Amino acid sequence: VDGASQRNFLQQRSRGHWPLYDSADLGFRNYWYPAMFSRGLKKKPIKVKLLGDDLLFVRQGGKVFALEDRCAHRGVPLSLGRCDFQGTWTCRYHGWVYDVSSGRLVAALTDGPDSPIVGKVAVRTYPVEERAGILWVWMGEGKPVAIEEDIPSEVIDPKNTVIGTFRLVKGDWRYAAENGYDEGHFKYLHRDSLWARFYLRAKFPAWSLHKDSMCEIEGQSGWLTREVTKVVMKDEYPGLGSWPKDEWWRTRIDKALVSIRLPGILRVSWPDRPVVDFEWYVPVDKGYYLYGQIVVVKGLTTVGRRLLYAKYWLIWRWLWHGEFNGQDIEMVQATPVSAPERLYRPDASIVAWRKLCEQTARGVKDRAQTLTNREGKL
Ligand code: FES
Ligand SMILES: [Fe+2]
Repeated sequence: VDGASQRNFLQQRSRGHWPLYDSADLGFRNYWYPAMFSRGLKKKPIKVKLLGDDLLFVRQGGKVFALEDRCAHRGVPLSLGRCDFQGTWTCRYHGWVYDVSSGRLVAALTDGPDSPIVGKVAVRTYPVEERAGILWVWMGEGKPVAIEEDIPSEVIDPKNTVIGTFRLVKGDWRYAAENGYDEGHFKYLHRDSLWARFYLRAKFPAWSLHKDSMCEIEGQSGWLTREVTKVVMKDEYPGLGSWPKDEWWRTRIDKALVSIRLPGILRVSWPDRPVVDFEWYVPVDKGYYLYGQIVVVKGLTTVGRRLLYAKYWLIWRWLWHGEFNGQDIEMVQATPVSAPERLYRPDASIVAWRKLCEQTARGVKDRAQTLTNREGKL
């Protein structure tokens, strides 16, 4: 392949081929998304923005409800309101009272018990589930799918211990997902992290090759997986010399197995560790995403669980989810929106992920229809 046609090929693959993906700046709606840890929602209601919509989470009688955070009357956020009657939520402004499970207006206090508006209006409510100590919300159209379809089995298994962090991050959720599955970056970007050098003492390869299967969609589960076929720990670069430098204290060869699936879930596991690391990239608003960093540890005793909590909050939280993933966050923020790109061989991973979204995201058929109508063509 000569230079010009190679350039052509890469540009073709990198721009304009993913219209649905490119237009999904607020994500794919027909999925269950994590919103926060259950323990974060107590008596006090919490407002959050997800997929561009403002939501209000309230806990009443031990159950969690999510409502659109906008009063049907004059649009004031319901999160300013309060609970006057069990099972309902009252708007702060004129005292409209909504049923928290159906969203229906059950009273307009300042218009008397016979107010004619009652029964005629409602706010949207969203299905919510509590699983693995996390609140999950369905913001899609129609009846939600079974939640087990959208939460990886290791997270939902009550025998496993789940711990982690949710943080609001500046950046596009798609760049965060691409960075998670990006095959090339960790061998350079993360090489100097304290986590990798001194805690894991992990050796990263100089470069590696992968099976083409990372471009294919794996079975029913919908995971894409990068399978290594060749690893080169150190190499000679013409005119430059050898790279990387030896660091004698790095003794373990990193054998991470990395997978990704819709709607933006990364899974990283290691053959020699009982730990599975998950990352969720949940669109919040244009240019912001909720970064869920969730670690699952298998087979712990009660004492082991306590030790894990201590280890997580004293070390992992800062070094792994903080310093190491902080390098990812910095790069995601630094990636300009719609920058021209010239992809290289390891980016087959990114292309595979874009293709997965383009072809298999739930609800894309309707989106394709909308795009066709709007633009006259796809
Ligand atoms: S704006 Fe909510 S009751 Fe008037
Ligand atoms: Fe990374």
